[in-house]
Amino acid sequence: MKPCYRDTMDPNIVLGLAKRRGFFFPSFEIYGGMAGMYDYGPLGSAMKNNIESLWRKNYVLHEGLSEIFSPIISPEEVFRASGHLAEFSDFSVQCQKCKQAFRADHLLEEVVDNPDSMSQKELGEAMVSNDIKCPSCKGELSEPVAVNLMFKTTVGPLGGRDGYMRPETAQAMFFNFHLLHRFYREKLPFGIVQLGKGFRNEISPRQGITRLREFNMMEAEVFFDPENKVWPGFAEVADLKLRLLPDGLEEQELSLKDAVSKGIIANEPLAYFMHVTKKILLAAGLDDKRLRFRQHLKTEMAHYAEDCWDCEALTGYGWLELVGVADRGCYDLQSHIDHSDAELTAFIRFPEPIEMEATVIVPNLSALGPLFKGKAGAIATRLGEMPCDGLDATMPIVLDMDGEEVTVPANCFTISQEIKKVSGKRIVPHVIEPSYGLDRIFYTVMDHNYKEDGEYVTLGLPIAIAPIKFGVFPLMTKDGLDDIASEVDKKLRQKGLLTYYDGSGTIGRRYARMDEAGTPFCITVDYESKEDDCVTIRDRDTKDQKRVKMDDLDKVAISLADSSLTFEAIG
Ligand code: ATP
Ligand code: GLY
Repeated sequence: MKPCYRDTMDPNIVLGLAKRRGFFFPSFEIYGGMAGMYDYGPLGSAMKNNIESLWRKNYVLHEGLSEIFSPIISPEEVFRASGHLAEFSDFSVQCQKCKQAFRADHLLEEVVDNPDSMSQKELGEAMVSNDIKCPSCKGELSEPVAVNLMFKTTVGPLGGRDGYMRPETAQAMFFNFHLLHRFYREKLPFGIVQLGKGFRNEISPRQGITRLREFNMMEAEVFFDPENKVWPGFAEVADLKLRLLPDGLEEQELSLKDAVSKGIIANEPLAYFMHVTKKILLAAGLDDKRLRFRQHLKTEMAHYAEDCWDCEALTGYGWLELVGVADRGCYDLQSHIDHSDAELTAFIRFPEPIEMEATVIVPNLSALGPLFKGKAGAIATRLGEMPCDGLDATMPIVLDMDGEEVTVPANCFTISQEIKKVSGKRIVPHVIEPSYGLDRIFYTVMDHNYKEDGEYVTLGLPIAIAPIKFGVFPLMTKDGLDDIASEVDKKLRQKGLLTYYDGSGTIGRRYARMDEAGTPFCITVDYESKEDDCVTIRDRDTKDQKRVKMDDLDKVAISLADSSLTFEAIG
């Protein structure tokens, strides 16, 4: 019987395998556990690193985005500006009897379409009209109330400053925009990535690692001139297809080019990063047939988004959002401009300078000189460069001169209209954001690659993702076979390949352990190895075996691990 994939995996099977083989398991179990918290074990940590490496390979190496790494705790001001303080909530209901809290939309998932797009009032009405009761004890539920999902803390022991654990890694890429833009020599487009923890005090964490309170994100923010939203790689992939479920339309397969020209996807970069998302998920071993992009309904869209597509995978938990690809417009940069003094804009140079009527500040040197003496020249220059919008000619202007606050009285300048040669304009860039939930991708990799043949379980992980690349076995732990195998194992590790040396049990048991752990290849040292200096390499999926000279093993193993060699091609 050929190993078969289950169409929809029973999550308990995945959770069982994950715990048994050290992929992931609930945290703090000896103290009763804590909802929404999981540990990655030895294999899980290695696989998590591999997923991150695959992601970086695409975003940092291939697309040329740069990575930053910033604090998890952020001051309250950040989230006042970002809108998370006011808007980042879910609607919760509480059981009057057992006191458990639930997300109102989750209780309506089987009953109405898109409950996560419903308002507080609509949710309340739907709960009543569908007679929704507590799923645990059938008790009466309260009215839905909005609950902010951020974890609050205090920074500093005595009378410290209010802070929050970040609910997304994105904000640092916005409030540092001016520094990052300078790093990119003030050109657009450019992109920044950040990988790290996000924290959300989910109302009812559930379903293993797919809804955690502390989870792992991989996010990119790509900044564009809104009048020139183009990304260099688009033309190369424009004819490739995506499976789309657009708001209000049937599911359909469309090329990137057609989806943009029909106005289904808002713009080329958004479509491009949807394509990158699909490429990464397929390379991580997800099944193309169980992937789709679902467009957010207008009412479901996050407070910052202009258009948003969720990349969803069909799993044992049903359709699960793995990645959100959003056009955040200029929402975040504009909000941080409004809430701080930062100049989070970009200067777009015109192809040729153009003449235009402009409001300018004309410094009055004869008034500035006596008042500011040696600083008068610098103040005059600064006044001449300032934007004039909203200035009142009768009011003083306050300048920040290298950290010193200087008040310039109204008699030191005039405001007038002039025809001026203008070489460009300042804009607030727009942002395309692909936001990946690593834990949900991790779960789906296991779900989509779980194969069974009767009792025999194989995790068909791609080599790039597999935690262990090679199992190394001596046929017997005697007659020097164990020494040769240990040497092989050591050499492969020195080449940067994670191996697992196993000398216990029958060879069949050892293969079975490695197959279940997703190890793509096993190397066996047998008695013949002592005669012909060869070892046997076995392929996990086909079970084919080939003899390879020990002298060539490093090269072959490295090439198999970076996929530049296929098993069939080993000669
Ligand atoms: P959901 O609607 O499922 O709560 P979301 O729309 O709030 O998710 P985003 O805010 O778009 O999710 O977050 C980006 C990505 O982070 C998601 O696509 C998902 O993969 C992941 N993610 C979000 N919340 C969690 C969580 N509590 N646990 C694990 N991963 C999460
Ligand atoms: N940064 C996307 C999100 O957290 O919603």
